Amino acid sequence: MARRIKVINGQRWIAVCRSIEVVSTAGKRVELDVEHDIAVFRFADSVYAISNVCKHQHAAILCDGLVRNGIVECPLHGWQYDITSGRAVRGSSGLEVYEVYDDGETVWLKEPEERLPSWAR
Ligand code: FES
Repeated sequence: MARRIKVINGQRWIAVCRSIEVVSTAGKRVELDVEHDIAVFRFADSVYAISNVCKHQHAAILCDGLVRNGIVECPLHGWQYDITSGRAVRGSSGLEVYEVYDDGETVWLKEPEERLPSWAR
C-alpha cells in the first residue's frame, strides 16, 4: 500500500504510522524499504527514529528491545543505544538517525536522501 507523502519547504515527509502506535515502553517497527528498517520510539513526549538494525550482528530487532530512560537495549546481546541520537551506550558503533515528528494523529518521517533519485538530490 502506498504511503501518504507531504512536502514541507521542499522536503518530502512520509506517513509511517499513527501516533497512538508509538508508546513510551516499546518501539514501533517501520520497514520503509529494503534499505531502511527503522524503529520509532516515544520519549519525553517526543518521537525519535533510529535504525532498527543492531550494529552488533545486524539483527533487525531493536524495536523489540527494552526501553528505559531514552535507551533501548538489544534483546539479543545487550548492546544499548540512545534513541535520541543513535549513539552507542554499550557497544562499539552507533546507529543511523532519522528525522520524525508527530502531528498528533500521524508520525511523519523525513524521506532519507538516498531514497531519492540522483536528479532530485
Ligand atoms: S545483535 Fe544486538 S547486541 Fe547482538
